[in-house]
Amino acid sequence: MATKGTVSGVIANMVTLKVDGPVAQNEICYIILGEDRLMAEVIKVIGSNVYVQVFESTRGLKIGAEAEFTGHMLEVTLGPGMLSKNYDGLQNDLDKMTGVFLKRGQYTYPLDKETKWHFEPLAKAGDEVEASAWLGKVEENFQPLKIMVPFDLKGRFTVKSIVAEGDYTIEDTIAILTDEGGKEIKVNMIQKWPVKVALTNYKEKARPFKLLETGVRAIDTLNPIVEGGTGFIPGPFGTGKTVLQHAISKQAEADIVIIAACGERANEVVEIFTEFPELVDPHTGRKLMERTIIIANTSNMPVAAREASVYTAMTMAEYYRSMGLKVLLMADSTSRWAQALREMSNRMEELPGPDAFPMDISAIISNFYGRAGYVKLSNNEHGSITFIGTVSPAGGNLKEPVTENTKKVARCFYALEQERADRKRYPAVNPIDSYSKYLEYPEFEEYIKNRINDKWIDKVNEIKTRLLRGKEIAEQINILGDDGVPVDYHITFWKSELIDFVVLQQDAFDEIDAVTPMERQEDILNMVIDICHTDFEFDNFLEVTDYFKKMINICKQMNYSPYKSEKYEEFKKELKTLITKKKITKNK
Ligand SMILES: Nc1ncnc2c1ncn2[C@@H]1O[C@H](COP(=O)(O)OP(=O)(O)OP(=O)(O)O)[C@@H](O)[C@H]1O
Ligand SMILES: [Mg+2]
Repeated sequence: MATKGTVSGVIANMVTLKVDGPVAQNEICYIILGEDRLMAEVIKVIGSNVYVQVFESTRGLKIGAEAEFTGHMLEVTLGPGMLSKNYDGLQNDLDKMTGVFLKRGQYTYPLDKETKWHFEPLAKAGDEVEASAWLGKVEENFQPLKIMVPFDLKGRFTVKSIVAEGDYTIEDTIAILTDEGGKEIKVNMIQKWPVKVALTNYKEKARPFKLLETGVRAIDTLNPIVEGGTGFIPGPFGTGKTVLQHAISKQAEADIVIIAACGERANEVVEIFTEFPELVDPHTGRKLMERTIIIANTSNMPVAAREASVYTAMTMAEYYRSMGLKVLLMADSTSRWAQALREMSNRMEELPGPDAFPMDISAIISNFYGRAGYVKLSNNEHGSITFIGTVSPAGGNLKEPVTENTKKVARCFYALEQERADRKRYPAVNPIDSYSKYLEYPEFEEYIKNRINDKWIDKVNEIKTRLLRGKEIAEQINILGDDGVPVDYHITFWKSELIDFVVLQQDAFDEIDAVTPMERQEDILNMVIDICHTDFEFDNFLEVTDYFKKMINICKQMNYSPYKSEKYEEFKKELKTLITKKKITKNK
C-alpha cells in the first residue's frame, strides 16, 4: 500500500503533510489539486509530519488536499533520443509543448517510444555481466551510444540471450539476463536513476590530465581545463559569464554537451533555444545541437524545479560518461541554485548559516562538483564529465558563501572582472587572479610536453609574470606620471598590453577570432613571446605608445584573419618589418 498524506500547511512552494505510513527523504509525491497532480519532493520528515517542496505553483492549494507517495526519489529516464532535446528541470520535453513553458500539473514522457534504433550487440549469450556493462550500441546523431545493464542491478548476471543486430524501439527487450538464482531479467534500452544519487558505476576516478580544448585563449593558453576537470566562472552582473559559457559549450572538443540554464532570465533561455539549433560545430561541420541537451529553468519557475535541474543535468552526464564518452556539463548560474536551497531552508525555519544559506551549503556544493571527473570504467575504457559552473556573487563580492565554497572544490577559477568588462576587454577574465590547478599536475605537464612541447608551461608562466609586472608598472605610472618612470618601464608595460590584447582578448562574436585551435594558440603565444624577448630602442614614451599600438593593431588583424591565409601572411610580413625598424641589433 502506498503512503498517503493530507496537506496541513502551505507556505509558497513548501507544503506540510500529515502522512499515514513510511516516507523516505527525497521521495516524490503527487498532491492532488482538482484535475492537476502537482509533483513534490520530500525535504524533511519529522514523525508523521512531512515537509515537501512542490515543483509547481501551489496557487489554489488548500489544507486538507490529498497526496500520494510514489516510493521513489526524483528520477530521470535515460535512453537513446535525448540528444538535441530541450528539457526542463523535471525532464519534461519542452518541444512537446506549444509555448516554452508547461502548464501546471502537465508532465511529458522524455523519450520517444516509437523511434526504432539500429542496435548492434556487443555482448553474447553466456557472457558474465554486472550493472552498467555494455550490451550493445545504437547510433544517435553520429554518437555511439551504449545500451547497458540496468544501473540498479546488484551482483553478477549471465546473458541468457541477446537480440540480433536490427531495429528496435526503446521498450523492446534486447537482452535477457539471469541472476545467480536463475531468475530472468528483461533488459530494454531505458534506464532510470535518482538524480540526487551519484552514479558511481566506474572502477576508479583517475587524476584528469588531458587538455580539453575550448578554443578560448584565456582558458586554453593561460589556465587550461582538462577532460573530467572542474572550473567555475564567478563574475558580477553583466560581465560576460553567459557569453563565455556559451562560447565554451559551442567550441569545446566534447562528445556531448549538457547546458543547465537554471534560474536565468526567461529571454536568455529563449535565446539559447533559438540560437543553438542554427550553430555549426567548428570541429565536425555538423549542427551543434546534435550533441547538445539543454535543461532550462527560468527564474519565473518555482525554486524547487531550479534546484532539480542541476541534478537532472548531472545524472544525464553520468549516463553518457558510463558509455565512455567525453561530456561537458555547464550550469548557469549555480548561485540561483544555491538561492533556491536558501529559500527552502528559510521556509523550513532551519538554523541559517552564513548569508542565510543552509548550514550544509559547503557539503552540497562539494558533493555536486565531486560527481564530475575522469573515470576508468569496468571494461577499462575511459569517460569524463567536465563541469563548469558560473557564480553570480551579489555585488561582485567574492567572499560570499557560494563563491567561497565553490573555490574550495573547483580546480579552475576564471574570475570575471567588472573593470575589464567596463573597458570592453572581453572575455573579462582577470589574468592575475584566475588560475588552473591542472598546470601543477605532473600528469598534465607530461601530457602537454607530448601534445605541444616541453617549453609550453614555462612560456605560459612567463606571460603571466609579464602581465603581473605590467599591472605593477601601470600603477606606478598612474602615481608618478608618464614622465616619472624610465622609458624602459613603458616598454615593459606595453609588452604586457600586447599579451592582453593579442592573447587574452578575444571577440566571441567574430567567426574567426571566436575559436582558436590549439595549434594557432601556440603560434600566437610564440609570436608574442618573441616580441617580448626583443630589445627595442625608443627616444621617449610617446614613441613607445605609438609603436606598440601599431603592433597590437597588426596582431589583432592577424587574429581576425583565417589561419595562414594570404591576408594572415601579409600581416605577418608587415609585423616583421615593423619589428626590424626598432629592434636593437647587438654588435659585438
Ligand atoms: N567575449 C565577449 N565578446 C564581446 N562581447 C561580450 C563578450 N562577453 C560579454 N560581452 C558583452 O557583455 C554582455 C553581457 O554578457 P553576459 O550576458 O554574458 O553577462 P552575464 O555575466 O551572464 O550577466 P548576468 O549576470 O546578467 O547573467 C553581452 O551581451 C555582450 O554585449
Ligand atoms: Mg548570465
